[in-house]
Amino acid sequence: MQKSVIHLEDIKKSYFLGKNELPVLKGVSLDIFKNEYVALMGPSGSGKSTLMNILGCLDTPTSGKYILSGHDVSKMEDNALAGVRGKEIGFVFQQFNLMPRLTALENVAVPLIYAGIGKKEREEKARMMLERVKLGDRYKHKPNELSGGQCQRVAIARALVNDPSLILADEPTGNLDTKTSIEIMEIFGSIHASGNTVVLVTHEEDIADHARRIIRLRDGVIESDRVNEKKEALLKS
Ligand SMILES: Nc1ncnc2c1ncn2[C@@H]1O[C@H](COP(=O)(O)OP(=O)(O)O)[C@@H](O)[C@H]1O
Ligand SMILES: [Mg+2]
Repeated sequence: MQKSVIHLEDIKKSYFLGKNELPVLKGVSLDIFKNEYVALMGPSGSGKSTLMNILGCLDTPTSGKYILSGHDVSKMEDNALAGVRGKEIGFVFQQFNLMPRLTALENVAVPLIYAGIGKKEREEKARMMLERVKLGDRYKHKPNELSGGQCQRVAIARALVNDPSLILADEPTGNLDTKTSIEIMEIFGSIHASGNTVVLVTHEEDIADHARRIIRLRDGVIESDRVNEKKEALLKS
């Protein structure tokens, strides 16, 4: 049997604003297997980021079960959750979320500090990751000395540096022009090709077309979940 990286059972999530309950996820169940490449789509407000934050252990569901790489994370306390997150997840955000005072190299090395890895090894690994995203010559630059696309490549290198079992990206090309978006999608393609599991949120059909499977969310439930026929046809041709 194939091993699930993500196993969700009837995940519900509400936000509470005073006494008012805002139900956002209304029972999401799904499995994502090793080395899948999934695009999560849906209208604004349908719950994509809420679901991604749960998948990335940045938030916990109100009810339901989430097994991540064999760990039941649905009932974990913050500390334990942070531990799993650091080991299993690489997260890429629309706004890059780099530390402005740190160089590209230092930004990429941050997750390795939390993993307790020594300075020399951290720098070596971070250098390798920057080479991988073709930024080997920019390692001393700070975020404000880099273009948006370059910042996103630094963020991708940071997401990969711990060799996580899952790469999550929430609208990673949302702040980038078309040409730069294509370059970033090529990097995600190569990450997937090297054996990683990738889940990315987008509302753009041509970005989603890079993925092998497309899940559509509407009003907090899965509306459809299917193989991306276009990508399959491309791979067979
Ligand atoms: N921290 C929060 N507190 C209260 N409501 C929130 C919070 N985050 C998101 N929401 C609400 O939940 C709904 C879904 O948001 P979100 O998951 O960000 O959707 P999407 O990413 O698909 O646009 C929206 O109505 C949004 O306003
Ligand atoms: Mg969102």
